[in-house]
Amino acid sequence: MRAKVIGAGSIGNHLTHALRSHDVAVDLVDTDPQALARARDELYPTRYGAWDATIGLHLADDAPSGGYDLIVVGTPPDTHLPLADAALAEGCSALLVEKPLATPDLAGLDDFVARAATSGTRVLVGYTHGVADATTAFVERAADGAVGEVLTIDTETREHWGGILAAHPWLDGPAASYLGSWRRGGGALGEHSHGLHLWQQLARAVGAGEVVEVAATMDRASEGGAEYDRITLLDLVTAGGLVGRCVQDVVTHPPAKGARVTGTDGVLELRFERGAERDVIVRSRPGAEPEVETFPTTRTDDFGREIGHVLHAVASGEPSPLDLAHGVATMRVIAAAFAAADAGRRTEVRHER
Ligand SMILES: NC(=O)c1ccc[n+]([C@@H]2O[C@H](COP(=O)([O-])OP(=O)(O)OC[C@H]3O[C@@H](n4cnc5c(N)ncnc54)[C@H](O)[C@@H]3O)[C@@H](O)[C@H]2O)c1
Repeated sequence: MRAKVIGAGSIGNHLTHALRSHDVAVDLVDTDPQALARARDELYPTRYGAWDATIGLHLADDAPSGGYDLIVVGTPPDTHLPLADAALAEGCSALLVEKPLATPDLAGLDDFVARAATSGTRVLVGYTHGVADATTAFVERAADGAVGEVLTIDTETREHWGGILAAHPWLDGPAASYLGSWRRGGGALGEHSHGLHLWQQLARAVGAGEVVEVAATMDRASEGGAEYDRITLLDLVTAGGLVGRCVQDVVTHPPAKGARVTGTDGVLELRFERGAERDVIVRSRPGAEPEVETFPTTRTDDFGREIGHVLHAVASGEPSPLDLAHGVATMRVIAAAFAAADAGRRTEVRHER
């Protein structure tokens, strides 16, 4: 198998390494020669022990085109759709686009979805947490009635972006990249949209359907050229009438990431604990000892598992939590949330265009 990874930054290196671990040949592409040199000389060897000389390094203008089984778009969010469109035009069996799929103005989204539908390419969106072993087990337990009938869902992805910036020592701060621009797909709602995506994954699994209304409260910041939501609280309502909440922020340290499903027979909790290299599920029911399940994992494992999932989904044709439709649904809620925050009232989420 051959893959082309576009973007030699933090995620590009993670996914290149994960692909090599699955014995996939990789060409790594960037517009910035410094990014290619940094990948070869610093990022990849520091993270994974040594550079892998089989990886092709190419400037975007001179990159090979055609003949790839998988193309990965691992660049800033405001470049995702143009690059994804080009990948469809180039032709590939599968296309993995990083999250968030688009910018909150949804520019180019409808056209891309239409092109993807007729392309024959399997398109997935890189919500890594959606295919963690603990997430898969948690979603199954919630859907199988582990805490009875589901009454509400909470998710949170709260993480100070000092951690993200530590993975990008060449950046001066959030204003130096898309991270500090909500319009470009950064800020809490864009960068940490894992929380919203997980909420939607859970709601679907328990039969509550898609999110149809959202209210949003945002703490917005503008400093040094950056303009972003640093804390966003979402109230969500689904087509089936389920209500719940998602919180995302770029201020919490140490991070707090996970989900809680409250049912008629107790509470099921999922915690992503990367600091302790594990994920944890706790089932608590009235009058019973809590039941704890632990899933050892590391950040490197997360990406290896994601790529394993992608390769399997493409080979088998099985549906995936990473499927394009779900990444699109997350974008539609993000767009409605910014509109709701501006209007100061609950806003309808439009899924069909
Ligand atoms: N799934 C996850 O857990 C996860 C983790 C980290 C980042 N991400 C996502 O990955 C994306 C990139 O984040 P990052 O931290 O790797 O950013 P980064 O700044 O480290 O790297 C982005 C790279 O893309 C390059 N680039 C920009 N435009 C390009 C183009 N048109 N063609 C080729 N290369 C181009 C830049 O030069 C840069 O080297 C974001 O959407 C982010 O949200 C996802």
